[in-house]
Amino acid sequence: MSLLERVRTKGDSEPDRESGSPALVDDKHKAQPAGPPTSAAAPPAAAPAAPTRLAAALAAAHAAEQSAVLPANPPGWRERAERPREPQVAGLELRVWHHPQYAAIKGEVTQALLQEYSDVGQAPRERLVVRIGELCSVVLEALGISITRSDRQRLVEQLISDVLGLGPLEMMLKDPEISEIMINGPDDVYVERLGRVYRYPAKFDSDGHLMQIIDRIVSSIGRRVDESSPMVDARLKDGSRVNVIIPPLSLHGPVVTIRRFSKDPYTIEDLIGFGTLTADMATFLRACVRARRNILISGGTGSGKTTTLNVLSGWIPNDERIITIEDAAELQLRQEHVVTLESRPSNIEGRGRVTIRDLVLNSLRMRPDRIVVGEVRGGEALDMLQAMNTGHDGSLTTVHANSPADSLARLETQVLMAGVELPSRAIREQIGSAINLVVQQARLRDGTRRIVAISEVQGFDGEKVQLADIFQFIQRGVDDEGKVIGDFQPCQAPKCLEDLAIAGEKIDRSMFAPSPKSKASAGETAA
Ligand SMILES: Nc1ncnc2c1ncn2[C@@H]1O[C@H](COP(=O)(O)OP(=O)(O)OP(=O)(O)O)[C@@H](O)[C@H]1O
Ligand SMILES: [Mg+2]
Repeated sequence: MSLLERVRTKGDSEPDRESGSPALVDDKHKAQPAGPPTSAAAPPAAAPAAPTRLAAALAAAHAAEQSAVLPANPPGWRERAERPREPQVAGLELRVWHHPQYAAIKGEVTQALLQEYSDVGQAPRERLVVRIGELCSVVLEALGISITRSDRQRLVEQLISDVLGLGPLEMMLKDPEISEIMINGPDDVYVERLGRVYRYPAKFDSDGHLMQIIDRIVSSIGRRVDESSPMVDARLKDGSRVNVIIPPLSLHGPVVTIRRFSKDPYTIEDLIGFGTLTADMATFLRACVRARRNILISGGTGSGKTTTLNVLSGWIPNDERIITIEDAAELQLRQEHVVTLESRPSNIEGRGRVTIRDLVLNSLRMRPDRIVVGEVRGGEALDMLQAMNTGHDGSLTTVHANSPADSLARLETQVLMAGVELPSRAIREQIGSAINLVVQQARLRDGTRRIVAISEVQGFDGEKVQLADIFQFIQRGVDDEGKVIGDFQPCQAPKCLEDLAIAGEKIDRSMFAPSPKSKASAGETAA
């Protein structure tokens, strides 16, 4: 008989009203058949025992059963409860309520819930939250554990997140400074916080526990992960991007990577404040977006491409029809007239796949004023270039590459992935006339994200696509704390200034003069 069943037996014979404790067992539970009372668990109805004596008896019975694994209320548990399970890492506060009997408490509460609700997933959450609080009181009392009100509150919160939510993940998701969560199996968790990667002192109970949480995430968007589909992209309710890969593809157990975005998307003021770019660079980029230049944002993984794409897209005038195309909808545009399209992986039978390329082609029939593609990775590059060259100007996209020249080379390779035989000369010509600007983004060693170059595409010379740097970030060193020291520098005036002016976006040419003044102000922002 489980502990809770014994408590229910107690509930039948001894109303909670008498004990003055919160209602532990409601009518529904009383109606359920309880197992045969044991002598320890069921005092004779005629002579009700004092509540404390009853709880003690229950605890004793339970402790006897579990003594091999769970010593009841061991001396010094309170100190252990306060101590983190692993050494604290810089700046990370561990908010886990850890108690030697936590697993037992959780087991009892879960078991009781499963008995009460045939499908916990379908039950109203508010009701479950209240019920977990009640059950927690019952179990604590029965185990003879007395804890402070604030510990109890933390315990209940932890139980709620373990039983109904995302377990240890919830705690990480509550920290607004964590931007990336990397779970390499149940025991090995890393987070990126304020640009730096730390080992996080929280664990999942087992592979099974982690898989349960993964299931909760992917099933909420109608996907599933198992041996036959061991890689899945998903999203959390708050918009965070989730990637899951499980054995046999991963040798570490289930691996989960979560990219978080701040609730309020970063604005250009934020990026200038972070030292990602200068106000002059922002002014130039805004003019380019408004004057419908085609812009390619290039950078490595996690360098901030999507964030910059979001900020740049924010400058598209409100009266234009914007179509966004992404693998997982990450962009958060504020304009009114936005259509969001998301690609889809194939289903379990290997059918139904809709690629970014399919969506780009479809979007051309949707009367777009602007097409914003989250990232080009394959054959869609050809369709994007053709669209840009045939009147759909003002398009924006990103590509994984380490320099502006590299980004154009990547585009060339991706065009070949479209399966159309085109000589490289023809492809370069298309690139040279379609792309106007490359914004190169990087995550530097100190974790900061910078726009390290803004380069203008100045056409095709018959052999190569011509690129000219307009702004650059010049790194001059690293200070004692590991912070990167450097300056943003204007390099030369872009050729498009006249076109910008014709489009109503006048930019003062002096902005591009590499004067000491502009160097200094940019350097201060960057440092
Ligand atoms: N300029 C910035 N300054 C500080 N943090 C930033 C900046 N840009 C982005 N970030 C943060 O860095 C993380 C990665 O950003 P983002 O998703 O934009 O990068 P990405 O280059 O698109 O990554 P991926 O290659 O995985 O698509 C996010 O958590 C984001 O909040
Ligand atoms: Mg991205």
